Amino acid sequence: QGSKLWGGRFVGDTDPIMEKFNASIAYDQRMWDADIRGSKAYVKALERAKLVSTDEMEQILHGMAQISDEWSRGVFVIKPGDEDIHTANERRLKELIGAPAGKLHTGRSRNDQVVTDMRLWLRSAISTLTDNALQLITTMVERAAAEIEVLFPGYTHMQRAQPIRWSHWILSHAVALSRDVERLQELKKRVNVLPLGSGAIAGTPFDIDRELLQRELGFDSISLNSMDATGQRDFVAEFLFWASLCLTHLSKMAEDLILYSTKEFSFITLSDAYSTGSSLMPQKKNADSLELIRSKAGRAFGRCAGFMMTLKSLPSTYNKDLQEDKEAMFDCYDNVQAVLQVTTGVMSTLKINQTVMEAALSPDMLATDLAYYLVRKGVPFREAHGLSGKAVFTAESKNIALNQLTVEDLTAISPLFGSDVSSVWDYRSSVEQYSAPGGTAKSSVAAQVEHLRNWLKKH
Ligand code: ARG
Repeated sequence: QGSKLWGGRFVGDTDPIMEKFNASIAYDQRMWDADIRGSKAYVKALERAKLVSTDEMEQILHGMAQISDEWSRGVFVIKPGDEDIHTANERRLKELIGAPAGKLHTGRSRNDQVVTDMRLWLRSAISTLTDNALQLITTMVERAAAEIEVLFPGYTHMQRAQPIRWSHWILSHAVALSRDVERLQELKKRVNVLPLGSGAIAGTPFDIDRELLQRELGFDSISLNSMDATGQRDFVAEFLFWASLCLTHLSKMAEDLILYSTKEFSFITLSDAYSTGSSLMPQKKNADSLELIRSKAGRAFGRCAGFMMTLKSLPSTYNKDLQEDKEAMFDCYDNVQAVLQVTTGVMSTLKINQTVMEAALSPDMLATDLAYYLVRKGVPFREAHGLSGKAVFTAESKNIALNQLTVEDLTAISPLFGSDVSSVWDYRSSVEQYSAPGGTAKSSVAAQVEHLRNWLKKH
């Protein structure tokens, strides 16, 4: 145990199974860069506090630069006993520069070190995810702008509801994603708080300038309480929830597209680049990309729920249970990142079948407009709804489409129906009525596009 960072008080060896069980290096090596940045900043604070000489600081900085180089070239060698990324980097530093390496951890604990690394790592992960999400939103907004003339059936309860613009559907998902970006920015403020200088639990007894650390590492603020700083992972839980919600939005969109891509609907054709075939049925073209997009929300929520269970009833401050935070965070990040990129690919390459989409509209979807026709003639909406419902019933019992009812059929239902009722049976003029902000009229959808374009400029 003598070689271990914490070996001093130990006599017996660690059981090999325990060694493996305890180690996090297999996954936390992803934070090598954050760990090195944290140490570089920390040694500067140590030098200021006269805990290391300027020469020792230079040696440590130089050694750290070399370790960084090894990691980035993929030649860093993990050795048995490298429990985690913090241990591994410090072990390597000692090999490279000898004795001064032993001063780096003065006043620092892996408890404040690990959470500093995680916050640094997550901060840059958030920037990447923001970029990926913005790219997807841009793709969607521009597609909506380009295909604004296309109409298709809107569904509620998966039943045919009202004619809408295809762009209106696209933007409904883009708007949800824009809130996800905003939520991510909000969360970033709580991620970007410096814990370093908190020690293991009690803080630091040395003259460590935490403001210097904050500036060096680009944190927005400094943690207020050392016990909270080392023992809380709500910033991770928040990120896991964020990932679950963002993926939930994308799963909804994927589900719609899967349906639209079936032969029965044929509204869209997925690009070959995002489809796969069947090993048995030669005719198959499966929407595997969309199915995987749909699936990942479940996985992320599992991570989120699992980690919440880990946190529940933990006592205060650092406990090794907290090591569970990392795989959940990395897994959610990897999946959201992949999903955002694949969704961007799917959305920029799918083809729409405008003729099929518009042919799928049917006069029954204008029954609401038929009621509004009567409302415009002074009939209270409840009554108009009932009268239009009667018209639907009559058409169904005659086995004809709603717009096939004669003026006589209609006047038998209400004398207020006149020959001008024919104006109701036009899908384009139907959607044009919905021109209030947020509606599916062309002007309103164009306003949504403009709004999102401006929003994108600001993000
Ligand atoms: N690998 C550990 C983790 O991920 C680092 C912190 C270890 N701290 C400790 N006191 N054992 O949480």
